[in-house]
Formats: sequence, structure tokens, C-alpha cells
Amino acid sequence: MPSKVSLTRYLVEQQRIDGHIPSQLRLLLEVVARACKSISQAVNKGALGSVMGSAESENVQGEIQKKLDIIANEVLIEANEWGGHLAGMASEEMEGIYVVPNRYPQGEYLLLFDPLDGSSNIDINVSIGTIFSVLKMPEGDRGVDESDFLQAGRQQVAAGYCIYGPQTTLVLTVGDGVAMFTLDREQGSFVLIEENVQIPEDTKEFAINMSNMRHWDEPVKRYVDELLAGKDGPRGKDFNMRWVAAMVADVHRILCRGGIFMYPWDKREPEKAGKLRLMYEANPMSWLIEQAGGAATNGKQRILDIQPGKLHERVSVILGSKNEVERVTGYHLGA
Ligand code: F6P
Ligand code: MN
Repeated sequence: MPSKVSLTRYLVEQQRIDGHIPSQLRLLLEVVARACKSISQAVNKGALGSVMGSAESENVQGEIQKKLDIIANEVLIEANEWGGHLAGMASEEMEGIYVVPNRYPQGEYLLLFDPLDGSSNIDINVSIGTIFSVLKMPEGDRGVDESDFLQAGRQQVAAGYCIYGPQTTLVLTVGDGVAMFTLDREQGSFVLIEENVQIPEDTKEFAINMSNMRHWDEPVKRYVDELLAGKDGPRGKDFNMRWVAAMVADVHRILCRGGIFMYPWDKREPEKAGKLRLMYEANPMSWLIEQAGGAATNGKQRILDIQPGKLHERVSVILGSKNEVERVTGYHLGA
């Protein structure tokens, strides 16, 4: 490809040359990218845009403030509802599904998103992001309802995220590898910075919230203990730790240079499968990771094979460099 390729051009080429995506899906992804651009602008303004803090609170001018995650949710809904590509949407911020109103044309796709991942980072000026996943309406289905969304992650037709960090970068897969695009603010467009992203199979970097150590299950404890033992332990090398507390940022680092990310089941709330959401976080991230040569499991099973039972289902997540993920999964399976 030529030196400066925009997201638009990349998608047109995916459609035209490679036949990977139908035009409706291409247009849908363009709209999602446009919404991410608006969210990025709001994130950039921070306190100057009255977007910080909690909803219902007032700023110094006596104006009602809106939480950035609510704004991000609204931006995604408003940008996508009228385009004719979607039948419905589901968001981590909404209890039920959002059916595209019948005053707009109905499309054949379903969009799921975590509008603003890593919320605890919003007010401290640290990276956050939007995560999205696209599914197709089941064949022959008339009228969208919640059960249409309950598809395993391997059924996704597109997935990605946009990270709002020092740069705003959109990372995407349509099932043909992973591509990254950074927002060129002067041009107003996302520009391809890397194609065929590959995660190294081995790593010396891990990401987990260590403060939960006493609540972990035995296999996770064993794995992390071995990492912490470093050169003198069974792994024979030192490992480094990173935890941004925004999945989007931790996954982005792993796509850039490898590593393993874990948010495992723990004993604090044993009835919950994990903290992270299957449909809005784990599925899109797992597909990206697999498309980049990594692996993603819940300790026992490939995440993309999990059949969701409900929209807001939670899941234990272990993803990243293949050999490390296989090792932790092996510990869970008693191998
Ligand atoms: O969306 C949930 C989330 O904010 C993730 O982005 C992040 O990985 C995790 O929670 C952080 O959890 P904790 O607050 O336990 O570090
Ligand atoms: Mn999140």
C-alpha cells in the first residue's frame, strides 16, 4: 500500500480487492470511527468541555455535568442509529438492547460496545478507550430481540477499539489480521500505521491486579508465583509487571510488544465468572489477540467459543502471548 493510507481507503480495499467485507459493514465501521473521533475530542477537552466528574453534578458555571461514559454512549447511539446498517445495539452502559427505531431503515448488523473503558482513568488524564464488536443478525430473523445478540465471539464479523492516549489510535480486525490507524487531527482522518500486527509468542511482561492475589484460584497463584520468582525460579528469567487499569490500554500494549493480561475469576464474588464483560470487552479483544497470533481463554476454554447466556455476562480473561496463555490454561486444566 502507498505511504499514507486512510481508514476509508483501507476499508474500500478490504471490500473491493480482498472481498472481505460487504459495503454495509464498511459504512458501519466508518460511522463507528467517526463516533470515536467525536469521543476523542470530548476526552481531549477534559474539564474545559464540562465532561468530567459524575452525572448530575454541577460545574463552576452552574451547568449540569455529564459523565464522559454517558456522553460516549450517546455519541455512539446517535451516530449509528440512522445509517441503515444496523438492526440494534447493546452497550455496557445500557441495561437492555437498543432497537433501531422504525423511522430509520433497518440493517443486518448488531453493534455492541463498551463506550468508555477504564473509567477510573478518566479524571486522572490516563489512557481510556472505546471497545466495539459487530455481529450479524441471524438468517431469516425478523425483528431484533436480545437473543439475537447471544452469539459466540467466533461469529463476530468485525471488532476493534479506539484508544484515547497520547495518540488516538483505532485498532481493527475484520478477520484478516489486525490493522492500526492513528488519528491525524489536522487531516481529521485515521491513517494506517501498521498492518498484520503480530504478538510475540513469548514475553517477559505480565498484567494483573496484584492486590487481588489473596483471592485468586490456585492455578493463577501458581503461575504468578513462578513469574515473581524470576531468574532463580522455575521460569529461569525475570518478568516485569504493568497494570494501566484500563483493559484497552493493557491490550494495546500487548498488541504492540507482547505480554499477558489476566483478570481471572476470584473468591471475592465467587458466583461471578469474572469482572470483565464477555460481549463488550472479552470477545472483541480476544478476536484481535487471536488475529495477531496470540491466544485468549477463560482458563479452561477459548473465549471465542463461549456461548453467552445473557447480554451482560461476565467472564474470566487470560489473553496475550500464546505460550504464556497456554501455560496458565494448562495449569487450570491440570496439565
Ligand atoms: O472495564 C473494567 C475495567 O475498567 C477494565 O478496563 C480494567 O482492566 C479493569 O476494569 C480494572 O480493574 P481494577 O479496578 O480491579 O484494577
Ligand atoms: Mn470496560
